[in-house]
Amino acid sequence: EAFLPVAFVIGYLLGSIPFGLVLTKLAGTQDIRSIGSGSIGATNVLRTGRKSLAAGTLLLDALKGTVAVVIAGYIAGPNAAMVAGLGAFLGHLFPVWLKFKGGKGVAVYIGILLGLFWPGAIVFCLLWLATAFTTRYSSLSALVAAFITPIFLWWFGHLALASLFAALTLLLFYAHRENIKRLQSGKESRIGEKA
Ligand code: G3P
Repeated sequence: EAFLPVAFVIGYLLGSIPFGLVLTKLAGTQDIRSIGSGSIGATNVLRTGRKSLAAGTLLLDALKGTVAVVIAGYIAGPNAAMVAGLGAFLGHLFPVWLKFKGGKGVAVYIGILLGLFWPGAIVFCLLWLATAFTTRYSSLSALVAAFITPIFLWWFGHLALASLFAALTLLLFYAHRENIKRLQSGKESRIGEKA
């Protein structure tokens, strides 16, 4: 149990690597914080028109969550894995390097879920895809998938995981507060539209 704070810090440090910002800087695009929603996530990277950069952001932001969980779990077991997952999520949303202005947590949520209970990640992705195909809203798709995921985990009897992901879902909704306002006023941009 002495390892739990260490697991949190490892998770936070991995989670706080802003891959969207790093990849777009390396590729020399406009600063993504000044375009579209201003977010550093894959959805906003897609608004640069560079699909491969968006895919890379999605993959690496997800992977940092998986890696945090798997490393901590390997060293110290399932509780440490969950604490590292929480750390990674908070690191992504509130990175100290970017004055605590990070991403919205969708990719890293999937990655953490993949590391802790992979069927949950599949369910999340299916819900995301189903909502995205019908509405073309990236944000709404994430909100729907994140709303249902803790219920799914609870329903499968994974109570500790359900609690963790309920907390992550609350944080994800908080990170999407501007998107929620835009969805309510019909001003949210759809996938493939310029924001
Ligand atoms: O993954 C973030 C997505 O749900 C919304 O992103 O850039 O449209 O605010 P964005």
